[in-house]
Amino acid sequence: MNQFENQNNSDSIIKSDNTPFAEMNSQSHSDKNHHGYRQLINRPPAKPISPFLPRTFSQFINLFKIGVSLGISLLLRKAYTWGNPVITHIEPTSLCNLRCPLCPSGTGELTRKRTRMNFDQFRIIVDKLPTSVRMLLLWNQGEPFLVKDFMQMVSYAKQKKLYVVTSTNGHFFRNLETAKNIVQSGIDELIVSLDGADQESYQKYRIGGNLSYVVQGIRNLSASKNQMNLNKPLIHLQFILMKHNIVQREQMIDLGREMGADKLSFKTLQIVNWQQGNQFLPEDHSLTRYKPLIESEPLQTKRRRFFADDCLRLWYSMVINCDGQVSPCCFDKDAEFPVGNLLSTSFASIWRGESFKKFRQQLLDSRFELEMCQDCTEGVRNLFTETIDYHKN
Ligand SMILES: C[S@@+](CC[C@H](N)C(=O)[O-])C[C@H]1O[C@@H](n2cnc3c(N)ncnc32)[C@H](O)[C@@H]1O
Ligand code: SF4
Repeated sequence: MNQFENQNNSDSIIKSDNTPFAEMNSQSHSDKNHHGYRQLINRPPAKPISPFLPRTFSQFINLFKIGVSLGISLLLRKAYTWGNPVITHIEPTSLCNLRCPLCPSGTGELTRKRTRMNFDQFRIIVDKLPTSVRMLLLWNQGEPFLVKDFMQMVSYAKQKKLYVVTSTNGHFFRNLETAKNIVQSGIDELIVSLDGADQESYQKYRIGGNLSYVVQGIRNLSASKNQMNLNKPLIHLQFILMKHNIVQREQMIDLGREMGADKLSFKTLQIVNWQQGNQFLPEDHSLTRYKPLIESEPLQTKRRRFFADDCLRLWYSMVINCDGQVSPCCFDKDAEFPVGNLLSTSFASIWRGESFKKFRQQLLDSRFELEMCQDCTEGVRNLFTETIDYHKN
């Protein structure tokens, strides 16, 4: 039994919403699962899109151009860019309510402007994106739900037919009305960072966080989806594996199921030095993305077999920070390599501009001379150790 079972969501949430508990129960599977919890998922899962599977002829042509220019660039070690991006990050804010110790937003280490984007700026940016962009990742550093225009941003992106995903620490929808608004906004996927099955373990990384808020929020979202008979947003829990929480695997799986999540992924931790590794990395190496750490030696990640040392993502994605500044990728956390500002410049002059081209070339020449590329996940194996699909398991 986990500590939240006695505040079962159906009792606390559905009643507060005036939907009789019995009615709710008859809509959902009334069976208890093998752990004895009520199974709340009563709808088929939402299907995520793959931005790399073309649905139209122009999407096919764009992917073809990306593939060809990337192939030629890798072969000749000279940067050519013919296609346009299919994935874009937009960062609503770099500010955060929590103080996660390995996150530069949480520790206050970001030196770039810490601000919130407003809806007008968001609209200008989205209107400038090429139609090749299919997936909008509405986060980077910081907590997206701190932005008051966030829901309006999602609705606008949905009008533009983008597949919208965000990542959140889950502290801002414990109010049922807010959860309903999120479901109504049409957002496709919500990644909720939840790496602890009890408060003591949770707060070791999510400093300043309150697990019961997150749990309540996820229950609200799931209940709202059930009430509106919608399968979106896909509720995707993400548990970062650390020394102190790996024993909670089973508990977390049960908790996720009981809250009505769709998926739970176990993600390996990113560190920047071995001191952090000593403090947070699990001792079991199969649960990390690093080769065994050697004190004072550079960290070494486990690499995939093909294209392990090359970066492909600069040919199909980009990151727009909360002040409009474009970074080549999300590992440029402090925007040290700005390639233009989309609030004041056109998309094409950035994507095909000299600065972006120079950056791509620098990576083709010697990727690992850049410090940010040493921490990057491109080419790395074992980013996720396991994903539980609650619709199947
Ligand atoms: C910087 S956060 C911003 C979004 C939001 N505030 C959140 O925590 O989900 C983006 C992602 O990085 C993850 N993250 C934070 N610290 C991490 C670490 N040390 N290693 C791997 N992922 C980490 C978060 O869990 C989240 O999925
Ligand atoms: S909640 Fe997200 S943005 Fe905030 S400090 Fe933690 S990882 Fe960073």
